[in-house]
Amino acid sequence: MVALKQLAETSGGNISDETLFRLIAEDLETQGYSIRHGALPDDIANALFLYQQDLNANKYAKAGIGRGNDFLKNKFVRTDEICWITGESEAGRMWVDWSSKLQRFLNQKLFLGLFSFESHFAHYPPGAYYKRHYDAFRGETNRVLSVVTYLNPSWGQNDGGELVIYQDEHDHEGVKVAPAFGTIVVFLSEEFPHEVLPATRDRYSVAGWFRVNTSINNNIDPPR
Ligand code: OGA
Ligand code: MN
Repeated sequence: MVALKQLAETSGGNISDETLFRLIAEDLETQGYSIRHGALPDDIANALFLYQQDLNANKYAKAGIGRGNDFLKNKFVRTDEICWITGESEAGRMWVDWSSKLQRFLNQKLFLGLFSFESHFAHYPPGAYYKRHYDAFRGETNRVLSVVTYLNPSWGQNDGGELVIYQDEHDHEGVKVAPAFGTIVVFLSEEFPHEVLPATRDRYSVAGWFRVNTSINNNIDPPR
C-alpha cells in the first residue's frame, strides 16, 4: 500500500475547484475535451484510491456493453472490471459531491442541461483494453459528457494503458493520455471516439457520465 503522503505529493497540490472548473469549461468550449493533469483534489483522489484498492475482488463485475436487458459481456470490445459508485462510502460521496459541483458549474457556463450523473470504478488487469468506441450515439442516448480520472501512482512512460482520444471517425492518430494519478479527462460523449490501450500493470480509474433528462410523461429516466 502506498502511503497517503506520498500519493498527495504525486499531484503536487491542487488549484481551486472554481479555477479548475473554469479551465475545463474553456477547454470544452474551444476543443470539446479537456485533459487536466494532477487536477483531481488530493483528498478525493486519496480516498478513492484507498477505497478502490480495498474493493473486494468479487465486487467487480466483468464489464458489459449496454445495460439492463442489453447487458452483454463482450470480450472482443472490453476486458475491464467495473463497480458502480453509489455514494454509500465516504470516498464515493466525496466524488459524487465534486461531480455535482462540476455539473452545476458547466450548466451555468455552457448551458449543457446536465441532469444526472452515474459513475463506476474500473480496473483493467495487465493486458486488458477497451477498443475504440463512443460513449453515446447521436439520438440514441442521453449521455452528454464523459469524465474519467485515474488512480495510478507513479505511472511510467512504458506502462502503456493510455486513453486515446480521436478527433472524429476519420482520425486514427489521436491524442494519448497516460492514466497518471489525479489526471482528469472530460469530453463530449457523442463527439469523440476513444479507446483504452493495454497496460503492463494494473490500471485503476473512475469513469462517469453526465446525462440530460429524457423523461417521458414525467417518468424520469433513471441513471441506471
Ligand atoms: C469508458 C472509457 C476510458 C479510460 O469506460 O467508457 O472509455 O481511460 N474509459 O478508462
Ligand atoms: Mn468510453
